[in-house]
Amino acid sequence: MTSMKAILLAGGAGTRLHPLTRVVSKQLLPVYDKPMVYYPLSVLMLAGIRDVLFISTPRDLPLFRELFGDGAALGMRFAYAEQPRPEGLAQAFLIGRDFLAGGPGCLILGDNIFYGHGLPTLLRRAAKLTSGARVFAYQVRDPERYGVIEFDPATGQAISIEEKPVTPRSPFAIPGLYFYDGRVCDLAATLKPGARGELEITDLNRLYLQSGELTVERLGRGVAWLDTGTQDSLADATAFVRAIQDRQALKIACIEEIALENHWITPAALVAAAIQMGKSPYANYLRARAEGGVSGE
Ligand code: DAU
Repeated sequence: MTSMKAILLAGGAGTRLHPLTRVVSKQLLPVYDKPMVYYPLSVLMLAGIRDVLFISTPRDLPLFRELFGDGAALGMRFAYAEQPRPEGLAQAFLIGRDFLAGGPGCLILGDNIFYGHGLPTLLRRAAKLTSGARVFAYQVRDPERYGVIEFDPATGQAISIEEKPVTPRSPFAIPGLYFYDGRVCDLAATLKPGARGELEITDLNRLYLQSGELTVERLGRGVAWLDTGTQDSLADATAFVRAIQDRQALKIACIEEIALENHWITPAALVAAAIQMGKSPYANYLRARAEGGVSGE
């Protein structure tokens, strides 16, 4: 068990997906059979994190509150805060200052999907962090779209970190999942808006890098980090989830199932959740899981 709390950032204008996101938050769009936000929430749960602050726009925050409530149905504790304007990912630590109360904090972006071998172990390890910061590196074809981390070829140490460089120094992107020690809110408060006019998470990570306190863990081939930034990548994410779930008859990011496996809720809570979800395949899955009918072990 970890005392680390997490912020799930699910705001932003979502203009790249218009008209899909004209009236609904991007992070609530479907990724196959569940809202997108289930996937990053499940990542936090796999890390053993029970306290989550959802940050979204004034328009969309009520929808997240309606979807997840106080978290008790999952054996968790949820809080909610508005981000009035999308002024940068690092702003999450200004908005979430009271919530973190000087303790360590994880940030996950509500549109990042992770799936794969060894992920729970790596997540639980990161959630135990008490000093410094931990980010991940993932090889991609188009690093210029992301925060990019460069490693010293001789030592393997991280040596530079840049936001959307025109000429990337490496193929390694930094996914939207970050773990920080208890100084994070103070450090975030020192940041100035970058070229995009936003408080950049990359600038926060650079502070830890410069003081030699940033550890970078590479996510290997066995892990899928999926993008949902464009119509095509969103469709690809849906196809990916559908293919894996159909093959294994196990669900990705079934938050009630993970809560059960974490011993945060009982099988009866799965039945209660299933009742709220009517005749959907998701509800049937919860019922089967409550009866011990499916197992990922
Ligand atoms: O996905 C990982 C990448 O996320 C990192 O590699 C980059 O270093 C990081 O800057 C970020 O890049 P993006 O260009 O994807 O950031 P974007 O502005 O699209 O914001 C990411 C998500 O966070 C998006 O769903 C909207 C939401 N958001 C964004 C901002 C700027 C907020 O909720 N609030 C904000 O203020």
